Amino acid sequence: SVRGPVIAVDGPAAAGKGTLAKRLAKALGVPYLDTGLLYRAVGRLVLDAGDNPADPAEAFATRLTPADLARKDLRTPDVTRAASEVAAQPAVREALIATQRSFVGPEGAVLDGRDIGTVIFPDAEVKLFITASAATRALRRFLQQGGDMQAPDAALVLKETQEALSARDLADSQRAVAPLKPAGDALQIETDHLDADQVLAQALAYARERLTR
Ligand code: CDP
Ligand code: CDP
Repeated sequence: SVRGPVIAVDGPAAAGKGTLAKRLAKALGVPYLDTGLLYRAVGRLVLDAGDNPADPAEAFATRLTPADLARKDLRTPDVTRAASEVAAQPAVREALIATQRSFVGPEGAVLDGRDIGTVIFPDAEVKLFITASAATRALRRFLQQGGDMQAPDAALVLKETQEALSARDLADSQRAVAPLKPAGDALQIETDHLDADQVLAQALAYARERLTR
């Protein structure tokens, strides 16, 4: 099937992948897919089903609907943990491959996740790996979720946020199938000292250069 250019945006939690991917897609005029949402939706359905072993995560992954992906409760801490757990199951990942590949039409697309440049589109025209230190990423997620640095419990919440992010990064990096790691041919952007505009400028310059070759 004919597909346009793919821009893969991978990296650890709260590095700014989604923010960048959305803005890249807008600047280039192509569709955007947040692949983390697929794993979150499966995690949500697993939690809803309780401990019923008759409903394996793979079954949910196979019959995900647009309504499952549109749910508003996909970013709670329990769903985030469940997403990472189901994401380690090879059958779940396998079931979500076709959805991700068929998303890309003739105009191309931007996809963000963990394995876009390594597994889903190893031949992607543009591969970006977005990183930042664990402390920076924890602060970004804390502020994104409405955290207040002046609140009495700010230090504690920040510490818990960083622990949760680090635990998830470790699990995502160490799983046997499609672990989080940069593709050999990815441009890595270390964003500790860059704001979202600066990251976009670097990524867009690189993407335009690669895409006009
Ligand atoms: O998708 P991912 O989990 O990698 O991160 P995100 O949700 O796109 O970004 C987390 C937060 O970091 C958002 O509130 C962004 O506005 C902020 N941020 C960023 O995306 N890029 C920077 N260079 C600095 C902050
Ligand atoms: O926004 P954040 O980086 O915190 O998480 P996300 O991108 O929504 O991904 C949630 C979880 O889904 C990750 O911790 C991974 O375990 C899993 N995931 C994955 O395995 N492969 C992808 N392509 C995207 C997400």
